[in-house]
Amino acid sequence: MLALGCDHGGYNLICAIKKYLDEKGIEYKDFGTYSTDSVDYPVYGYKVAKAVASGECELGILCCGTGIGISMAANKVKGIRAAVVSNEFCAEMTRRHNHANILCMGGRVTSEEDAVKFTEIFLNTPEEGDRHLKRLAMIDEIEAGTFMFAAAATKGDVMVKNVIPKHLEPITSKLEKAGATVEEFDDVLAVNLRPAFVAARTLAIHRLPKRFFQI
Ligand code: RB5
Repeated sequence: MLALGCDHGGYNLICAIKKYLDEKGIEYKDFGTYSTDSVDYPVYGYKVAKAVASGECELGILCCGTGIGISMAANKVKGIRAAVVSNEFCAEMTRRHNHANILCMGGRVTSEEDAVKFTEIFLNTPEEGDRHLKRLAMIDEIEAGTFMFAAAATKGDVMVKNVIPKHLEPITSKLEKAGATVEEFDDVLAVNLRPAFVAARTLAIHRLPKRFFQI
């Protein structure tokens, strides 16, 4: 089941898409709007995003004037990967690489004919696994607010977590003096020991409680 939504700027496009879906016998649930009267696109972006995120619908299609505003609204819902598409290549790649679950298009950007073409590609392109899964997991981490760990872990850094604010500067300067490179993310330090592994260990790391570390 597909979830469809639009504002007044995307109404004509969604009508063309509905005609295509009807011809193909593809089921959809239409969350509105149902005319070209002015409405607020976040309402429809949210309705469709919720339907997809909850599993009620598998994929969604959203249209507004540019496709941008409605995609921004949809992307605020956890689990949503809404992609604004204005060519065939992006319609395909956003399924293959980004596993986009909502296709967004602009009624003031894309012709009805192209919108139907992009829809067809979007619905018929499979998701690829491999390296893309790792990157999508990173997006999930950003959403969950835990990405700093993932970002540093991919570089093989040592994480110093939950650092008390007043300790950030002294720990950082001690490690840097020992030759380590340190990046600060709120209360987390990502410490790269490779340039000065021995020195940093000796001077600083072993003085911190073990619970602060995660490799
Ligand atoms: C409505 O005029 C317009 O702002 C909306 O359709 C959309 O383009 C927003 O991104």
